Amino acid sequence: MIFPIFSFLLISLFSLLSVVTTKTQYWCHGDGILNNQHTCRFFTIVIDAGSTGTRLHLYQSKRKYSKRFHIIHAQIIFIPFQVKPGLSSFAKSPSSAADSLEPLLQRARKEVPHFMWEKTPITLKATAGLRLLPGDMADDILEKVEERVFNSGFFAAFPDAVNVMPGSDEGVYSWFTLNILLETLFTDEPSVGNKPAAHRSVAAFDLGGGSTQLTYWPNNEAVFSEHIGYKRDIDFFGHHIRLFTHSFLGNGLIAARLNILQMETDNEIESAHQLFTSCLPEGFQLTEWEYALKFWNINGTSSHSFATCYDIAKKFVESSEIMHLKELKGSPIYLFSYFFDRALNSGLVKGNDGGQIELRQFKEAAEIACQRGPSEIDDGSHWMPWQCLDLTYIYSLLKDGYEFEDNQPIVLAKKIKGMEVSWGQGLAFATANEFQLTEGAIKTTVQEQNATVVDQIFDLVYSGTNQVLLYFNIISV
Ligand SMILES: *[C@@H]1O[C@H](CO)[C@@H](O)[C@H](O)[C@H]1NC(C)=O
Ligand SMILES: *[C@@H]1O[C@H](CO)[C@@H](O)[C@H](O)[C@H]1NC(C)=O
Repeated sequence: MIFPIFSFLLISLFSLLSVVTTKTQYWCHGDGILNNQHTCRFFTIVIDAGSTGTRLHLYQSKRKYSKRFHIIHAQIIFIPFQVKPGLSSFAKSPSSAADSLEPLLQRARKEVPHFMWEKTPITLKATAGLRLLPGDMADDILEKVEERVFNSGFFAAFPDAVNVMPGSDEGVYSWFTLNILLETLFTDEPSVGNKPAAHRSVAAFDLGGGSTQLTYWPNNEAVFSEHIGYKRDIDFFGHHIRLFTHSFLGNGLIAARLNILQMETDNEIESAHQLFTSCLPEGFQLTEWEYALKFWNINGTSSHSFATCYDIAKKFVESSEIMHLKELKGSPIYLFSYFFDRALNSGLVKGNDGGQIELRQFKEAAEIACQRGPSEIDDGSHWMPWQCLDLTYIYSLLKDGYEFEDNQPIVLAKKIKGMEVSWGQGLAFATANEFQLTEGAIKTTVQEQNATVVDQIFDLVYSGTNQVLLYFNIISV
């Protein structure tokens, strides 16, 4: 009798052990300390506090074990979840702004195993909505929101965990997202090696409403002496990357519409909030078009044609700061946001996966759109009346601004490998990098990087005591 019980106990003990081992190996902090011996999984939480809503981006990623250094291989799960309205709608009641995060935090607590909470970095970035709020309102909201995020159970004890994100960061993080999804920075291919290299990376072109961003990793650093102030140094998982990035304010699609309309309308008529454009057919009127809290009536003209619309768009593009980019000529560039949306509307690409086209196709699509008459463009969709102007502007921006040739290869994508190309994931990687760097999980080659760690420890003074203690334990390992 004793024998079967004994063996049963042994078997139980064995299966218990194997469960423990599996959990420890499977998760990067399965038993509380960092698993540095196996490929393991971890989470990162990014909260995108936009003007219309607040989105939770919960990433589960895999860190690959390798002898030389550790790389974060690929995010394997992404859980998006949104609440409305955005934080800026709670200007009169900052604590309600904090309350509005609760469903997102609860969702994250449900998805992340409890033992991983304190090892899961969380960051909240506010964008345009909060930037526009007057005076102390944004600060009051951020203060309450920060308190809520710090007490969420997740790890928020690092610099700028909760803040308003500068516009230029969006471009950099979008570039990261793109290159991580395309695996141009790290790859399993042994002949290529695991060192990220400029020549393998791709350029990211983002088109928002107010501004357009360009970010790439130049092969040749000479470009920085021509364009001072467009340099952005980044330490990424132990590697140094010098990016060229700029956000052109006023060159976003919606801002460009207004600029182009104003170029064709004389000041007197404009003061009556009436605009005229050759990018709309005669007899067509758009009423009460709103931009930046102003309302406009817009009429088409008898000179409506692609050629006239293009002349005016070109004049605007050439008067803006968009610069010639020699280095990117001929190799595929990646375009997303409004670039993608307008290409999709005009049938240049189909579905979220997008595809590769040539620049001249934007021109051809614009020519078709500019031939439509008043009844054809009045189909009820918000983008249809603008299609002639939008496509013409996009063409001119790339052709006369960045000076790409008509046969320039362009890749349009909304999603790559099922993941949306947006700044969220790039930020998640940067956050994970920062977190793991401080844990010593990433071996850095550059000595001065100790300074980063030291700075961060000082920055911890304002954080929760529990987390600080845990943090120091890890640091001293
Ligand atoms: C704009 O177009 C509408 C509709 O065709 C027309 O009734 C109106 O008079 C036009 N406005 C101006 C200022 O020309
Ligand atoms: C970084 O740490 C190493 C060894 O731990 C030390 O020798 C070096 O002086 C440190 N560098 C800086 C910039 O503090």
